[in-house]
Amino acid sequence: MTTARSLTIPLPDDWHLHLRSGEMMRAVLPWTTRHFGRAIVMPNLDPPVVTRADAVRYHSEITAALPDGVTFQPLMTLYMTERTEPGDVRAAFEAGDAVAVKLYPAGATTNSAAGVHDIETIYPVLETMEEIGMPFLVHGEVVDPDVDIFDREAVFIEKKLIPIRARFPALKIVFEHLTTSDGVEYVLSCDAYTAATITPHHLVINRNAMLVGGIKPHYYCLPVAKRERHRLALIEAATSGDARFFLGTDSAPHLDSAKESACGCAGIFNVANALGIVAQVFENKNALDHLEAFTSRNGPAFYDLPVSERSMTLIRHELPVPLPDKVDTARGRITIFDPKMDVYWDVGDVD
Ligand code: NCD
Ligand code: ZN
Repeated sequence: MTTARSLTIPLPDDWHLHLRSGEMMRAVLPWTTRHFGRAIVMPNLDPPVVTRADAVRYHSEITAALPDGVTFQPLMTLYMTERTEPGDVRAAFEAGDAVAVKLYPAGATTNSAAGVHDIETIYPVLETMEEIGMPFLVHGEVVDPDVDIFDREAVFIEKKLIPIRARFPALKIVFEHLTTSDGVEYVLSCDAYTAATITPHHLVINRNAMLVGGIKPHYYCLPVAKRERHRLALIEAATSGDARFFLGTDSAPHLDSAKESACGCAGIFNVANALGIVAQVFENKNALDHLEAFTSRNGPAFYDLPVSERSMTLIRHELPVPLPDKVDTARGRITIFDPKMDVYWDVGDVD
């Protein structure tokens, strides 16, 4: 028997994560802290994390729930509303209470009702963010009912992102959870002020996986998975080593009862499997030498943070590894993303 291969990389960070709150947060948090040193924590709670004071409260809730002896740094974000005050955003950033502000176009996704209708109302906040170097995280989908759901990302680029970029050339923008070749091409056409997160699931599933042979509610997320050629463009981008692309799991837990429903909600819970899956995608593309750029280096560079001094060893097994499939909570089960592909990589030691 040949010995298993291994790969040691700086401890990864998750640049897009939904931790929720209360019991749900306590159930999912240990899965993140096992594999990630830091995470950008999304603010779409109900009610959302809008002000600096909200972010401080949410941060203490998370740190109070950390398992004993665990070192994990939640990086807090503010939820952009049409009433967000530039002074509050500046104070939050300067104190380290929030590292970024997230745009949810109103109605685009889970808990986005308090989001932005008219993008021009937030221009004063964007002006401040450009000045202080605070990243603007964008859920890049239009919500116009006339626009087909599979076109919403591409239309967002034309209608919203290009004008924002033209108006604020030095604003740091992260195009969150890219799902299209249009998004990849847009980011590649930009300078270093624009970056993008890519999720493990969008590297693995296309829209057929979600819809052919029966509808798979656990593959439903927003932005929705697109055609195969888009998935292939995302793999090219993620595995290229280009500094503008980094890992954001967009792990978004919902109870199975909420997903397996006549109106199932959007979100895929994947942190438990994320790194093995991503390593497998990189191996399949012969790009393991670029894995640490995607998981551990490009994100901190964009956010002006140091690369983790800790390390993680990934183990390449001889046989596919069994993947965890669910998390049980007091209120019910949460299904873990099943990539339906052989994954030979597993997380080993974290130092
Ligand atoms: C996210 C959620 O459930 O909070 N859902 C999702 O499908 N990705 C929200 C989001 O990031 O759009
Ligand atoms: Zn998200």
